[in-house]
Amino acid sequence: MTQDEMKKAAGWAALEYVEQGAIVGVGTGSTVNHFIDALATIKDDIEGAVSSSEASTEKMKSLGIEVFDLNSVPEFDVYVDGADEINGHMDMIKGGGAALTREKIVAAVAKKFVCIVDNTKQVDILGEFPLPVEVIPMARSYVARELVKLGGDPVYREGVVTDNGNVILDVYNMKIMDPKALEEKINAIVGVVTNGLFAHRGADVLLVGTPEGVKTIKS
Ligand code: A5P
Repeated sequence: MTQDEMKKAAGWAALEYVEQGAIVGVGTGSTVNHFIDALATIKDDIEGAVSSSEASTEKMKSLGIEVFDLNSVPEFDVYVDGADEINGHMDMIKGGGAALTREKIVAAVAKKFVCIVDNTKQVDILGEFPLPVEVIPMARSYVARELVKLGGDPVYREGVVTDNGNVILDVYNMKIMDPKALEEKINAIVGVVTNGLFAHRGADVLLVGTPEGVKTIKS
């Protein structure tokens, strides 16, 4: 079974968490793209979606799924998104696709975070995947120096501008033993919009695509 087949299996399994008439929070990435394909098959049974990126919005609209502005909807039940890494406590690193800030905002509004991954994303300790940090452009060098003080090796993701007009620093060589504390510390650096640690808002349900089928883990 290929990695993409495992992503697809996890993406389609997430349909089970979408209720009739729901507004669904939708993340970003290749795994979520499979979920969007699945969601399109029940588009007439849901009210619509709230999106975490221009890319997901475009894909949903092209499939006829109505996309609402987050400010125009009340709290909703479920947010479905992928992850770059997830540990046994359901803390995640996200932002490989540069959509971390909008993902964190939409996730904050949802009652339940359903994370969909293939089994290569499960780790014991977060940090092998470089931690994305969204930064206001004029603060890039200052924030990079502050990240070095925290023990990381930040690298400017050249050529990438986020949907919010900002830049991304990918922080290498962080062995993240206390994800909540690091999430707070990095967010406290002036010029940081947010970082890709989702520890304060971790996943509630994890659907893992494996060669043996989709495994469900609940927090
Ligand atoms: C997007 O910014 C990310 O947070 C994605 O959710 C994450 O990178 C997972 O992406 P894939 O599903 O493409 O692996």
